[in-house]
Amino acid sequence: MRILVTGGAGFLGSHLIDRLMTAGHEVICLDNFYTGNKRNILQWLDNPNFELIRHDITEPIRLEVDQIYHLACPASPVHYQYNPVKTVKTNVMGTLNMLGLAKRVKARFFLASTSEVYGDPDVHPQSEEYRGNVNPIGLRACYDEGKRIAETLAFDYYRQNKVDIRVVRIFNTYGPRMLENDGRVVSNFIVQALQGKPLTVYGDGSQTRSFCYASDLIEGFIRLMNSDYVGPVNIGNPGEYTILQLAEAVRDMINPNADIIHEPLPSDDPRRRRPDITKAKTLLDWEPTVPLAEGLKLTVEDFRQRIGNAAI
Ligand SMILES: NC(=O)c1ccc[n+]([C@@H]2O[C@H](COP(=O)([O-])OP(=O)(O)OC[C@H]3O[C@@H](n4cnc5c(N)ncnc54)[C@H](O)[C@@H]3O)[C@@H](O)[C@H]2O)c1
Repeated sequence: MRILVTGGAGFLGSHLIDRLMTAGHEVICLDNFYTGNKRNILQWLDNPNFELIRHDITEPIRLEVDQIYHLACPASPVHYQYNPVKTVKTNVMGTLNMLGLAKRVKARFFLASTSEVYGDPDVHPQSEEYRGNVNPIGLRACYDEGKRIAETLAFDYYRQNKVDIRVVRIFNTYGPRMLENDGRVVSNFIVQALQGKPLTVYGDGSQTRSFCYASDLIEGFIRLMNSDYVGPVNIGNPGEYTILQLAEAVRDMINPNADIIHEPLPSDDPRRRRPDITKAKTLLDWEPTVPLAEGLKLTVEDFRQRIGNAAI
């Protein structure tokens, strides 16, 4: 098949491209390199089945493809809040352009949505039926409301224009190729420990998160894309860890002598978020397989190669 991956030079997009190229597909990677990097797709640049297009999805484009994985959108708060109006444009105009393309060429369209559509949830764990608790005028709205309207657009194209859609709601994912400066907890701890600095925990560290390893997530993507189920489907790891447990795991792996220090909790930090993955299990026969200790080891190795290790 000929498959378009928007945001293909980013963290998740490049792992997806590795899987699709290895399976023998023709892949077109479309990216404006806002948070993506050529380094992530370097290994495919000379492959005749691979094509890279520098393009901003807020502008229309014409291509002939069979499937579209639509991932283009900055994913971490530091990056999506840097230019919030642009984030809204990417989610609204970008998704409209890609759905228009899917409609024209009759391609199957896969939307990478997010657990952020649940906002600061008041039910635990979150199932796909939960409608969320989102602040439409908050600092996160450009992203979480942006993704909510992207889902709306996908379902309206499905109902009105018979576009064949799949919608995944991604929960916290980590792995090699995460950006060092994305401000997310896994990358923060790893970078601090490698640089020999204290690890910064916000609040007392009792807030919990779940962490899905990238290869598990990509397996879920491929299964959903090639299933008959439209979605939305939660894909994430339901194993819950406190932030303090994560800090200790990273510290013990890199620099057991590092200090853990506490700073005030940001106001919009959700206390808990954890996926209900019943749908993924029953409809896609999917569940995560990589334990946190193993995934962290692989991630630390990748960061070590990129930024070195001052702690040793
Ligand atoms: N990583 C996670 O834990 C997570 C969680 C929930 C949802 N997601 C979603 O998954 C997708 C990929 O996330 P990621 O972690 O790989 O992020 P990322 O920032 O590494 O990748 C996003 C990619 O999209 C590109 N991009 C951004 N705006 C663009 C535009 N206007 N035109 C063309 N390209 C553009 C960036 O350059 C980058 O390569 C995003 O849609 C994100 O919302 C990720």
